[in-house]
Amino acid sequence: MNAINRLAAVISLASLLPLSAIAANGTVEVTHWWTSGGEAAAVKTLKEQVEKDGFTWKDNAVAGGGGAAAMTVLKSRAVAGNPPGAAQIKGPDIQEWGALGLLTELDDVAKANNWDALLPKKVAQIMQYDGHYVAVPVNIHRVNWLWINPQVFDKAGAKVPTTLDELFAAADKLKAAGFIPLAHGGQPWQDSTVFEDLVLSILGPQGYHQAFVELDESTLTGEKMVEVFKTLQRLGTYMDPNRAGRDWNIAAAEVINGKAGMQIMGDWAKSEWTAAGKVAGKDYQCVAFPGTQGSFAYNIDSLAMFKLKNENDIKAQNDLAKVALEPQFQTVFNQNKGSLPVRQDMDMSQFDACTQKSAVDFKEAEKGDGLQPSMAHNMATSLAVQGAIFDVVTNFFNDPKADPATAVKQLNSAIKSAK
Ligand code: GAL
Repeated sequence: MNAINRLAAVISLASLLPLSAIAANGTVEVTHWWTSGGEAAAVKTLKEQVEKDGFTWKDNAVAGGGGAAAMTVLKSRAVAGNPPGAAQIKGPDIQEWGALGLLTELDDVAKANNWDALLPKKVAQIMQYDGHYVAVPVNIHRVNWLWINPQVFDKAGAKVPTTLDELFAAADKLKAAGFIPLAHGGQPWQDSTVFEDLVLSILGPQGYHQAFVELDESTLTGEKMVEVFKTLQRLGTYMDPNRAGRDWNIAAAEVINGKAGMQIMGDWAKSEWTAAGKVAGKDYQCVAFPGTQGSFAYNIDSLAMFKLKNENDIKAQNDLAKVALEPQFQTVFNQNKGSLPVRQDMDMSQFDACTQKSAVDFKEAEKGDGLQPSMAHNMATSLAVQGAIFDVVTNFFNDPKADPATAVKQLNSAIKSAK
C-alpha cells in the first residue's frame, strides 16, 4: 500500500467511528497516592466522572501515604520528558513546578466555570503560578484531629481529652486496660504529623506560623520547642513499639477494630471509617487534637496539570479540571475522602458530623490566626525544608533516649541548610 492509500484507509476506518468518540477519546493520566481502601473509593468517583464524559483515565497510583514515593516517581517522569497529564501536587510545590515551565494554564476552564467566585481567595492563590491557574483543588483536609473509638474508651473508663494532660490521662487508662493507647505508623510523614499537632498545641497558631512558615530561629530553638520534643517522646511511649513502617490506614484499622483507642491523624483517616461502614459521632468520635481547638491546620489536595501535546488528551485534562470542582463530584468525593468540599457554596447537610464540625471550625479559624498551613502535608514550606524537618523528627522519635534540647538545635541547623 502506498502512502496515499494508507492514509485513505485510516480515514475510511475513522469514518466508521462516531464523531463524538473521535473527538472525546483523549486520555488523562493521573499520578496520585490515594491507595488506601477509603481513598481508592474516593478517587474512583473522579475516574468514573471523567469516563462518563467520554475520556480515558490512566491511573498512576503510587502507594505510600503522604506522597513521598509518588513525588519521586513524578520527578523521574518529568526528567525523562514524560510527565502525566495531572499529578497530585500541593502548596508551595506548585510554584516550584510552575517555575520549571512544565505546567499548563487552566485559565479558560477556570473562567468558564467561575473558579474565582467559587474558591476561597487563599486557595485560589495557591492554585496559580504567575497569575494563571495551573492546578485545581479538590478538597480541604484538616490535619489536627484525634480519632477515638468510644467503645474502647468506655471499656477503659477513659475520658475524651481536650488538653495534653487529659490526653496522657486517657492514654494511661487505655494502657492499664490492655489497649494500645495510640495507634501510629512509624513513617516520617506520620511522625511529623504528630509533631506539627504538638507545635500547634504548645506554641499556638502564631508560634506555629513563626516556626513553620517564617522558619524563625528563636522560635525553632526556644524553650517551647524543647517542650514539643519532650512531649513527642512521651507520646511515643503510648504507641506500639512495632510501629516502624506501618501505613496510616493499618493504624486506623487498629482503632476501628478496637485494638487501639486513638489515632492522631488528618481527616483522610475518616475515609477508612467510612469504608468500614462506621458512622461519625456514633461508632467513632473526632475531636480537635488536644489544645488546638480553634485552630485548623489545612491541607489542600490539588491536581496540577502538565503541558501536553495531543489535543484530545488536552481535552481530557480540561475535563478533569472542570469535573473536580463540580458540586456533584465535590459531594461524593469528599463524603468518601473525609475532607471538606473546597467549594464555598455547598449544602453541608449532606455531610456527616465530623465534616460539619470541620466546616464550622474552618470558618472560626479563618477569622483570626487559627488557619495555618500544614507543614507535614506540603502546605507550609518547600519540600526540601520539609524533608529536613522530617529527618530530624523521625531520627529523634526512633531513639527513645534522644535529647530534646539537642533536637531543637539539629532542627534549626537542618532547616538552615535546606533553605
Ligand atoms: C496527604 C494527602 C491526603 C492523604 C494523606 C495520606 O498528604 O493530602 O489526601 O492522601 O496524605 O496519604
